[in-house]
Amino acid sequence: MIKSDDFGKDFLWGVATAAAQIEGTSDYYGKGPSIWDSFSSKTGKIKRGHKPNVACDFYHRYRDDIALVKLLGFKVFRFSIAWSRVLPLGRGTINQEGIRFYHNVIDECLALGITPYVTLYHWDLPQALEQEGGWTSFSINAAFNEFVSLCAKEYGDKVKNWIVVNEPFGFTSLGYMLGVHAPGKTGLSNFFSAVHHTALAQADGAKILRAEVSDANIGTTFSCSEIIPYTQSDNDILAAKRVDCLMNRLFIEPALGMGFPTSDWDVLEKFQIEYGTWRHTKRYTFDFDFIGLQNYFPLTVKYNAFIPVIQAWEVKAKSRKKPHTAMGWEINADSFYNIIKQFSAYPNVKSIVITENGAAYHDKIVNGKIEDEARIAYFELYLEALLKAKNDGMPISGYMAWTLMDNFEWAEGFDARFGLVHTDFKTLERTIKNSGYWWQQFLTT
Ligand code: NOJ
Repeated sequence: MIKSDDFGKDFLWGVATAAAQIEGTSDYYGKGPSIWDSFSSKTGKIKRGHKPNVACDFYHRYRDDIALVKLLGFKVFRFSIAWSRVLPLGRGTINQEGIRFYHNVIDECLALGITPYVTLYHWDLPQALEQEGGWTSFSINAAFNEFVSLCAKEYGDKVKNWIVVNEPFGFTSLGYMLGVHAPGKTGLSNFFSAVHHTALAQADGAKILRAEVSDANIGTTFSCSEIIPYTQSDNDILAAKRVDCLMNRLFIEPALGMGFPTSDWDVLEKFQIEYGTWRHTKRYTFDFDFIGLQNYFPLTVKYNAFIPVIQAWEVKAKSRKKPHTAMGWEINADSFYNIIKQFSAYPNVKSIVITENGAAYHDKIVNGKIEDEARIAYFELYLEALLKAKNDGMPISGYMAWTLMDNFEWAEGFDARFGLVHTDFKTLERTIKNSGYWWQQFLTT
């Protein structure tokens, strides 16, 4: 049986959340609308028409929720600052009520001996900035810098651990290429332009934190998935390589000063010329104190000439009869080990924190209990792989479970439940799941 002590006494154990997924009060207390407020008000964008305007009502219940973080034994609470709560129009006028709210959240953590890890951008762009083109517009960078600077000055005395951007590939691909997330834009040209501005924002934001916050521990997070070719045919291997460039390498390599992985995927070469990004190579770079890795599943891919640009297609876990969660995501802890190994191999990666990992299931309350044994099994499996990676010398310093409580899972609405704590979205009552008690045991005994 795996024990938390096996990871060493300095290992960080945390639980992660994000503002738009938990806070609610999305149009109260001076907050401006975000792209998720606008996107979710359009028909057909979110499953069953769910909206994040109440979500978990964390805004009113943060004290009780942070008490749960403590009760479950976590030492770190990761949350994000909603940009449009502190700057309703994305820049300019400051909403003091919003500023005060995050002071309250931070103070509550500190009073309970919990270390706050603050994410600056977790996908909820102020709608006012989207009107100017959002991440496809060069004007986003000055606005983001203003937001980062404001947060650093306000909270930098109390908060030392910062995450600049959450999963840059996640929101640029889903929101600016595939159009299934806010703001719902599509096409390669939107995507590449969003990639460019996001890569700049990630490095610029980190530089601002370095200048403004003494003793800051600065990171950013990357989604990552081991990409497995369906067969060992040359075509499948090449297809897997392209997907790897896109999903795993696209943001970390420029951040490390390596530029985009153009030699393994020529489409990126074109993008580099089109957007003139070669001139900015240095500006994409920052010497991060840690990188956050977020892993949920591997992808098995097959060559397919009919898929534009990438010529690759995912062969789903279900069709390969592999174990998977309610999202259809393959459960495969070896792939967790392998992808950590892949990222550990980069020179200059000093420290890795797993900033998200977890599983969604269709949990049901029966007699006041949620017996989510499948989720417990998932954590056991993944933590064993993590321990092996650590013991094999990979520089892993922490792990954060996704997520504290069931919340607004973006386009999936409220049905995809990832929480260690069950949220009843009618009464907003919280009930600790068996997996929450499992964590409590794991961390406190
Ligand atoms: C990544 C995102 O950061 C988070 O917001 C999301 O809920 C989880 N993955 C699960 O999909």
